[in-house]
Amino acid sequence: SLRRSTNVVWQETDITRDIRAQQKGQKPLTLWFTGLSGSGKSTLANEVEKRLVSTGHHTMLLDGDNVRHGLNKNLGFKEGDRVENIRRIAEVSKLMNDAGIITLTSFISPYESDRHSAREVIGDSYIEIYVSTPLEECEKRDVKGLYKKARNGEIPNFTGISSPYEKPVNPEIEIDTSQYSLEEATDYVVKQIMKYLD
Ligand code: PPS
Repeated sequence: SLRRSTNVVWQETDITRDIRAQQKGQKPLTLWFTGLSGSGKSTLANEVEKRLVSTGHHTMLLDGDNVRHGLNKNLGFKEGDRVENIRRIAEVSKLMNDAGIITLTSFISPYESDRHSAREVIGDSYIEIYVSTPLEECEKRDVKGLYKKARNGEIPNFTGISSPYEKPVNPEIEIDTSQYSLEEATDYVVKQIMKYLD
């Protein structure tokens, strides 16, 4: 388990979070996409990021598959590893926000308690986007062939099959990608985000 740092004192800096955000001319947010594997989180986050960039925003996209190749390459999919995965992502998002950047995260983040912790770490900048595409649809898409493997018992602890996904209680935004085209879904999410951007 993780120990709290001892004999470490928080150091105030002269250039503050507000000054950095001001220089970027934007309100730093963390757009936290959560949903099942294959729900469309990454595709949607990617489209939303393109929109934000095209309107002059400075963004950073953190994606499960990519972050798990680097920062979190020592983590698997047992509960404790997922908890640590999300804890690190929340802390990195907070640092990005401190740097004035709008962060988009695309992780299953299956546990309510971890999303709650992320919200606490990130504060007012945290915007939860629940990509609520039903399991049946995700499994039908099976873009990576993982559901098939999970059903065959080849992948243990697979979210939605042999590991839980706790539905968000109070997400700021919810979108079921099985009901809309990608463009429609992107339009909707961007419109909702605009409420928090100014
Ligand atoms: S988590 O739960 O937030 O820590 O997961 P995340 O970091 O988002 O990683 C999810 C991607 O890892 C692949 N993968 C698995 N997902 C769920 N359960 C198991 N056991 C598993 N093993 C590998 C899968 O491709 C997920 O990608 P996405 O983009 O979500 O489809």
